[in-house]
Amino acid sequence: MRAQTGPDDWREANRAMWDERVAIHTLSDFYDQAGFRDSRDVIRDFEAAEVGDVTGRSLLHLQCHFGQDTLSWAHRGATRVVGLDFSERATEAARELAAELGYGPDRASFVTADVYDAVEAVPDASYDIVYTGIGSLNWLPDLDRWATTAASLVAPGGFLYLAEFHPLCDALDDETGSRVTHDYFRHDAWVDETSGTYTDADAPTVHRRSVEWTHTLGDVVTALAAAGLRIDFLHEHDVTLFQRFDDLRRGADGYYRFPADRPRIPLMYSLKATRTS
Ligand SMILES: C[S@@+](CC[C@H](N)C(=O)[O-])C[C@H]1O[C@@H](n2cnc3c(N)ncnc32)[C@H](O)[C@@H]1O
Repeated sequence: MRAQTGPDDWREANRAMWDERVAIHTLSDFYDQAGFRDSRDVIRDFEAAEVGDVTGRSLLHLQCHFGQDTLSWAHRGATRVVGLDFSERATEAARELAAELGYGPDRASFVTADVYDAVEAVPDASYDIVYTGIGSLNWLPDLDRWATTAASLVAPGGFLYLAEFHPLCDALDDETGSRVTHDYFRHDAWVDETSGTYTDADAPTVHRRSVEWTHTLGDVVTALAAAGLRIDFLHEHDVTLFQRFDDLRRGADGYYRFPADRPRIPLMYSLKATRTS
């Protein structure tokens, strides 16, 4: 795989941006903390079906933000969940949320660390399930290093589960999602300075600089296979979780999809990869 390129300050810029967004996100309608305190579960139905029963399992969530997904897996029966994120404000908010919901540190804990330092940062040598995605890989320049790190944290017989936005979407125009306007194989970073955030485009923000990368589907699968995991499935989905293109319509089930008379493209993908030994 050819190395991704980008500015040297990517980590500092992204961390400052994410730190600032935590307070906005925890108060947002998008994340609906009040609703989460009631439901305690925001796992998407396709993820629940694909991951299967987590009862009695240990689970590590890489890039956990403020822990809603992490704590949802605890609610679904995982006996021990650990969330990792490089934003101290995110992990502080996650710890507060866990305490509010009655999960002690043995059941749900959160560590502040860069994902590339996860092996040294997390409390256990390995986990039955390593879970990640929903807007995570795009923040990482080095996919091989991510895959090696994540794979090394999967217990023998355990698996990594990833659900992500499909990289094809990054090659298409924002309005219709039907014209190829960017290079799918782009290796340069996307540097953005737009104010606001995905939960509130008008939110006043100071730390606006963000650095992201697109990783092709082939690169993701190849990186995980090269890291020693067996790919069990790779599913492509015709739905997504937000208004990625103006032409998408939100259905009664909360998913966004193209109108029925439009040819479809994959909007998300998910994969499961097992550590066999
Ligand atoms: C979109 S969120 C993850 C999605 C999560 N499912 C959610 O919506 O709550 C991306 C997260 O990645 C974290 N992140 C970005 N780069 C990171 C890195 N290099 N190491 C650890 N965490 C990182 C950010 O702090 C942020 O919390």
